[in-house]
Amino acid sequence: MPSPVRLSVVLPTYNERDNIQPLLDKLLPLREQYDLEILVVDDDSADGTAELVRDLAHHERCLRLIRRVGRAGLASAIKEGLLDATGDLAVVMDSDGQHEPASVRRALESLQSGSFDLVIGSRFHPEASILGLSGRRETGSTWANRVARFSLPRIYAPLTDLMSGFLAVRLDAVLPLVRRVDVNGFKFLYELLAVSRGRLRVREIPLTFQPRTRGTSKLDVAIFWDFLISILHSLTLRVLPRRAISFGLVGMLGVLVQLIACQLLMAVAGLAFEQALPFAVVAAATSNYLINNALTFRFQRLHGLALLVGLLKFLLVASLPVLANVGLASAFYSFVARDTLWAQLAGILVVFIWNYAASSRLVWNSP
Ligand code: GDD
Ligand code: MN
Repeated sequence: MPSPVRLSVVLPTYNERDNIQPLLDKLLPLREQYDLEILVVDDDSADGTAELVRDLAHHERCLRLIRRVGRAGLASAIKEGLLDATGDLAVVMDSDGQHEPASVRRALESLQSGSFDLVIGSRFHPEASILGLSGRRETGSTWANRVARFSLPRIYAPLTDLMSGFLAVRLDAVLPLVRRVDVNGFKFLYELLAVSRGRLRVREIPLTFQPRTRGTSKLDVAIFWDFLISILHSLTLRVLPRRAISFGLVGMLGVLVQLIACQLLMAVAGLAFEQALPFAVVAAATSNYLINNALTFRFQRLHGLALLVGLLKFLLVASLPVLANVGLASAFYSFVARDTLWAQLAGILVVFIWNYAASSRLVWNSP
């Protein structure tokens, strides 16, 4: 008898104590067919998920716990699990019971039957059933899929679920790409497809997406932001760092904040343009700081006193271009045109150029 295929199942968990055991009970029978290993990648859940898995691992030799401190997110958990996997094949699925263990067999069969590197469990396959997806999430995902499709290699255009959390892979083919997946990206699968440059042989199978029985979804507004960044990152050929894109977008929001704040201070508070401008600029810098703290640096987010100290530092660091911004906008207003919109845009332009010049100096002068 040939030795059985080695299979690694990667289960990311964040507060899934009530869900993990029933799932493991359903996955363990895979041992009859495969040389099975189950990797639970937990981000230091507060509900005791890791402790439970640790206890269970005492009895199940095939169960391994990877416990990380400092929540690093779903995509990074999947990446870590796949890099640590020892199987020939690997399956990644949600641990909250929304993905059906029956789909695992189906995915593995289709992975082994054809010459595929990646099998995606799709919630939007014509034969899929998505009882577990709210109408709002369904609409959101449908739109996200449409937009995402444009930013991925053409060959993946027929795929229907680019954000799925269910995938089966041939590890030898996929590992070199896994290394390159940007874990700050939107979704692991999307990033994997993006870095693969169309070289993966992909197939989709329909998924049954069950309602969550216990606990809550961990998706939040930051996910929408990550999506936007990922699309822009792909569209700019992945040359610009994601963080720089995020910074740039926040900066653009800051432009709006400044323009609106200035208008309000003039119209409502009755200030003259030169009086309103400094307040508007500081308001924009503060909002940039807070939004960057909540989105761009959310895994290193500052709280409480540190948030306040951070704001002061940020304002200090930004004050050089801020002075230039106010100076130029005022000068433009006084000497070039008494046009508040163009005056402010001119000031903002100077900040951009200053930042660009400062960073390139730093880059070129660095040893
Ligand atoms: N280790 C770790 N770290 N696991 C996490 C984290 C994290 O920061 N965040 C979420 N998870 C785990 C959850 O415990 C769960 O097992 C799985 O990842 C999916 O998380 P959910 O919070 O249940 O996601 P969802 O059901 O709202 O989202 C579904 O649709 C997304 C696409 O729209 C899932 O199928 C996602 O995988 C999918 O990307
Ligand atoms: Mn879920």
